[in-house]
Parts: sequence; C-alpha cells; structure tokens
Amino acid sequence: MKYKNITFKHENGIGIITIDRPDKMNALNNETLNELNEVLDKVKKDHTHVLIITGKGGKAFVAGADIEELHEQNKQSGYEFALFGQSIFSKIENLGKPVIAAVNGYALGGGCELALACHIRIASQNAKFGQPEVKLGIIPGYGGTQRLPRIIGIAKAIEYSLTGDIIDAVTAEKLGLVNKVVDSDELMVEAKSMAGKIASFGQVAVSKILNAILLSPVLTIEEGLKREAAYFADCCGTADFVEGTEAFLNKRAPKFQNK
Ligand code: COA
Repeated sequence: MKYKNITFKHENGIGIITIDRPDKMNALNNETLNELNEVLDKVKKDHTHVLIITGKGGKAFVAGADIEELHEQNKQSGYEFALFGQSIFSKIENLGKPVIAAVNGYALGGGCELALACHIRIASQNAKFGQPEVKLGIIPGYGGTQRLPRIIGIAKAIEYSLTGDIIDAVTAEKLGLVNKVVDSDELMVEAKSMAGKIASFGQVAVSKILNAILLSPVLTIEEGLKREAAYFADCCGTADFVEGTEAFLNKRAPKFQNK
C-alpha cells in the first residue's frame, strides 16, 4: 500500500510507521490521520509484533495537528475533529501489541498526544515535548488532558498544559514522560533494539502483560488481581509457556511460536 504522508515498513516482526511531512514539521492533517488509521488496522492483523512510530527528518516527531485545518473548525466540527484524532490514538493504545514512540525533535500538541498514546517513549536529546494549545485559544483535543496526568501526575500536567511550556528531553525523562533519552543518531538503533528484544519473546505473554498493565488505572485492585490471575492462567495454557519453562530447565534458549 502506497501512502502520501506516511511510510510503513516491516522487518523481522518490527513495524515502523514514519510520519512523512517534514516540510510541515510532520503536522497531522486529516489526510495523514486517515492514512495512520488505515495502516493501524493493517498492523493489528499482520505479523508485526512490535510497532515503532517516528517522524521523518531530524527536526520534528510531529509538531501537532495541522493548524491550517484546525483554523477552519467551529463548535460543531470541532467535536468531530477531536473525536476522530482521539479514536486513532486510542487505536494505538489498544492495538494489543507494544508501540514505541521514537521521538526526534518537536512533539508538540497532537504530536505529544501521539507519543502519549504509545506504550514506550524513547527520545533523542533534541526532543521537545509540550501541549501549547492554550496559546492558540484551545485545549489539547487528542487525549492530552487525560493521558498526560496519568503519566506525569496531575500537578505537572496542569502546569505544562496551562503554560504551554516546552519540556526538554532531560526534564521529560525526570518526569517519567520518556523511558529513555539517547543521542539523536542512536534513536532508531535503540528503538529497534528494544522492539527486537520484546519481539523475541512469546507474543501471547507480551500482549497479556500489556493489557493487564493498561487496565490497572481503570480497575479496582481486586478486579485487577482477578484479571491478572485469569491472564496468568491463559498463559499457562500456551505452547510458549511449556517451551519457555522447558528451555530454562534444560539450559537452552527458548523457541517461541507465539501460541
Ligand atoms: N500545523 C501546520 N503547519 C505547521 C505546524 C502545524 N502544527 N507546525 C509547523 N508547521 C509548518 C510551518 O507553518 C512552516 O510551514 P511553511 O514553511 O509553509 O511556512 C513549516 O512547518 C516549518 O515550521 P517553522 O515554524 O518555520 O519552523 P521553526 O523551526 O521556526 O519552528 C515549531 C518549529 C515546531 C516550534 C513551530 O513550527 C511551531 O510552533 N509549530 C506549531 C506547534 C503547535 O502549536 N502545535 C500544536 C498544534 S494544536
């Protein structure tokens, strides 16, 4: 499938989506969001075990929603505009496969929200995060008011969303907004290395771990523990569990079949 504003490639169980509008700082216009939506549906069903999302060029991961298109919105259309972006970012969060944001340069507004919807964020030293919507007279509309406080806490989320201040990579790591900061030329190497490690394990266990942890903020501890026990039991019924434990006991490397 040929896309205009994104590229998708797949190697050894790792899918890589690159937002490819560098002349517009990879801003997410409607066409780009539609392409992203389409490729995510494909990735959900194909042989991708781990997905990486990044931006083309060294300057920006994604500098937000496309402000030219944003400018056209009104009270009625604004609601649909926000819901559409939210639905795509929720599709990323609920993909059932780990998604790593490899953040190079600006991740502002919708770009920061895109990174927040991913499960792991690796940033280059020149990464700059922020929710500057307040400066445009709007609020974050692609999940920022909900995911940012869940990740960095309410006080810091309120501070950064009300000031629109930029969060540099070092501060982002201190806040727990990013998992790791690396040199710019190491960004994809590190993202692929982490993706490769995760892809080498049995994918039933990987997806159950992911889902159990994602459910933790919305379940009571009792509900969460029950869910954990059920997923644990599901894993005990897999060939990968037999293989993984047998391999350990026989002091050899496991060969997982993802079933
Ligand atoms: N939507 C549409 N176009 C955007 C954009 C966005 N979110 N962000 C950048 N662009 C475009 C610029 O308009 C410019 O286009 P042009 O060359 O046709 O004039 C091009 O990308 C390069 O951006 P420019 O501003 O010249 O680069 P810079 O290095 O001086 O600044 C940023 C980079 C990211 C700091 C600046 O572009 C910016 O503040 N962007 C908007 C960020 C934002 O508010 N995002 C939230 C949106 S809800």
